[in-house]
Amino acid sequence: MFTSGWIPMRRIEWHDTIDSTMRRAAELAREGCAAGTVVAARTQTAGQGRLGRTWDSRLGGLYFTIVLRPRLEPARVPLATLALGLAVADTLQIFVGLSVDLRWPNDVLIGDRKLAGILAQLQEGALLAGIGLNVNQREFPPELARIATSLRIETGSEQNPDLLLPALAGSVESHLKILETSGAAAILRLFEAASSYAAGRRVRVEMPAGEITGVTAGLTAEGFLRVRRDDGAEVTVTAGGVRPAG
Ligand code: BTN
Repeated sequence: MFTSGWIPMRRIEWHDTIDSTMRRAAELAREGCAAGTVVAARTQTAGQGRLGRTWDSRLGGLYFTIVLRPRLEPARVPLATLALGLAVADTLQIFVGLSVDLRWPNDVLIGDRKLAGILAQLQEGALLAGIGLNVNQREFPPELARIATSLRIETGSEQNPDLLLPALAGSVESHLKILETSGAAAILRLFEAASSYAAGRRVRVEMPAGEITGVTAGLTAEGFLRVRRDDGAEVTVTAGGVRPAG
């Protein structure tokens, strides 16, 4: 981060197209880039999603990774992940006037449709926060149409990704600061208030060991999701995909 007077300036590397901003951000992190450096793209040819999935990165979306160097032990990465979702939710509320829902660990939703996805990875001694936000897509292909939405679809108007990007990056940094300075409890409190999925929601969870169904029962101090199964047993979900159950 370079400073000019009181206004912080960050390095933003824009690409019309790139394979993945995660890959390029890891390269920059390895070269020792400053905290706050951003790699952004208008399309990606190999966008990476959670759990080894690919991320649809067509024109109209905003795809970026910010290189962060917070003072956090690796055990706190799940909490940092929650902070990233809160950062996106806050920015959309302030800049677009849109209230979103958060689904553990960090899907950004309008109703049941995904507006943004977040991928947090520790690489090259840095925390790489990748965000894919559906901005100006007017429609999605049939396989995504029922599960994805965009700012354009929700608000009826075009948004400027070049203006959204610095706001999102700033919000990511300030939410990580909340974690660093006020601790886990502050992030957990904010997440529980922002997410309809945190407690009392019937869900299906695809976990590495198989699928479970139950009702969400809050978060652990480490930022994992508690689910009370129908047989009464409580399961702590540390990784997996959460979906609403009928
Ligand atoms: C998810 O599966 O929900 C997470 C998707 C994260 C996608 C973003 S787009 C910008 C960054 N670059 C990538 O290749 N992936 C992340």
